[in-house]
Amino acid sequence: MIADLQQLEKDALAELKEAGAEDSILAIRTKYLGRKGLLTSLLRNIAQVPIDEKPLFGKRCNEVKELLETKIEEALKSQAQNKKEEILARDKIDVTLPGRGVRPGRVHPVVQIRREICDIFASFGFSVVEGPEVEWDYYNFEALNIPQDHPARDMQDTFYIEDNMVLRTHTSPVQVRIMEKVNPPVRILSPGRVYRPDSDVSHTPMFHQIEGLLVDQGISFADLKGILTAFLKKVFGDDTLLRFRPSFFPFTEPSAEVDIRCVICRGKGCRVCGQSGWLEILGSGMVDPAVFKNVGYDVEVYSGFAFGLGLERIAMLKYGISDIRLLFENDIRFLKQF
Ligand code: FA5
Ligand code: MG
Repeated sequence: MIADLQQLEKDALAELKEAGAEDSILAIRTKYLGRKGLLTSLLRNIAQVPIDEKPLFGKRCNEVKELLETKIEEALKSQAQNKKEEILARDKIDVTLPGRGVRPGRVHPVVQIRREICDIFASFGFSVVEGPEVEWDYYNFEALNIPQDHPARDMQDTFYIEDNMVLRTHTSPVQVRIMEKVNPPVRILSPGRVYRPDSDVSHTPMFHQIEGLLVDQGISFADLKGILTAFLKKVFGDDTLLRFRPSFFPFTEPSAEVDIRCVICRGKGCRVCGQSGWLEILGSGMVDPAVFKNVGYDVEVYSGFAFGLGLERIAMLKYGISDIRLLFENDIRFLKQF
């Protein structure tokens, strides 16, 4: 029996040495120390041990039991430690790595220009209003003195939603909407998106305009010229070259387009300015009496001027951008320059 005990101790220790995982250590515990374990059964058989050997056998049994318990406890502990180290090694965080950072966004150049222009006109006493992008034919054309089948409709290619509904081709319909609602004096500015089936280096199918309208008693072309010149010099600087060129719009008479010297080629002629050295940035004129009649203003008492400008054109000129489409490609390398 003592020999059996010796063998059991040897086996158990050997098995424990081999065991790696927590499961196998626990299995060894059950195998030897459990209620039906090998050591437990050996103890139960103490009756068969000769009487004079009993004390020694009992003592040895207890020693083996204590030894195994300690060894198993140690094995479990070191197993848990190994596991912890393994996890630490696997999930290592290098706190010395530089952070990824959050790149701050910035305001799109077109929005910057819109804000700048709105601020300038606010300082002239204009207030900002908005109108719908999907517009009735009536406001986009008819009320602006562009009747159905009039050749002037060809001036602005149009996306039609329905026969009498369009994506507005300009911000001018807002003039009519405002004048229908309020009596003079009127000083408004209306920024927003407009749409035309156009696409090349200086035209995109969606672009932004700002409409301006001033109506009061005794307003003349000199006021138009004065305000637009003051405005453009504020945006482009005092030494800016501009020209007022006679033009035609059905809703203004007389009409003028304002050009600015091409800042890409400095007037020499390039593909952006169509070799002319000048870039058109706005259309303007004295509000046509026919438009005043459509909104019920007394043409004997009131006069006024209106203008519409392309925001992208201004952004291109101000920042020297040679292709309008860059503004809408959302290439961060491009956008972060502004
Ligand atoms: C108009 O749209 C008139 N409503 C402007 C106006 C308002 C005149 C009030 C008189 C009184 P025009 O079609 O020329 O005019 O366009 C005005 C400006 O929009 C142009 O000078 C140009 O800067 C810009 N523009 C026109 N088409 C495009 C396009 N496809 N892409 C980018 N900008 C454009
Ligand atoms: Mg034009």
